[in-house]
Amino acid sequence: MKYITHNLKETYDLAAKFVAELLCDRRGGNRATVVALFGELGTGKTSFTQGIAKAFEIKDHITSPTFVLEKVYKLGKKFSYERFTHIDAYRLNGGEEMRALGWDEASRDPKNIIFIEWPERVESVLPRDMIKIYFEHSEKEGERKIKILC
Ligand SMILES: Nc1ncnc2c1ncn2[C@@H]1O[C@H](COP(=O)(O)OP(=O)(O)OP(=O)(O)O)[C@@H](O)[C@H]1O
Ligand SMILES: [Mg+2]
Repeated sequence: MKYITHNLKETYDLAAKFVAELLCDRRGGNRATVVALFGELGTGKTSFTQGIAKAFEIKDHITSPTFVLEKVYKLGKKFSYERFTHIDAYRLNGGEEMRALGWDEASRDPKNIIFIEWPERVESVLPRDMIKIYFEHSEKEGERKIKILC
């Protein structure tokens, strides 16, 4: 699926759609749902995650976790996942550092949905069947190309 968002709000709306309509439905699997967010600096990976958090009715402000490697949020009962995890791997050097953050346990839990920015930094520990989302700048200011591969 390919989308173009013309501004930040449209990226939030796309993220909300991802949650509400589960554009990639992985519920019922026996491991966590992993969503890898690829794209250059400033293409909207954190913004998309903020939209996801909003759709999951998380009240905390989602910061750009370049300063916080990982954040875990507990979800309300009405959602099919119990936990939402946001990881920014930008400062990590390889999969071993993800393991040190408790990756093996987190990725084994089918009630967890995990969004990872800069997944290429920790490629070795990521599951082959992860959902991939590619973010790109477009020629027009404020426009982003977003491709979702389930
Ligand atoms: N269509 C759009 N979708 C998302 N963000 C947009 C859009 N248009 C403009 N922006 C702006 O682009 C910036 C995206 O920043 P964001 O932190 O989400 O990027 P990022 O991909 O997470 O970068 P980083 O690799 O540094 O973590 C924000 O300042 C946002 O306001
Ligand atoms: Mg970011």
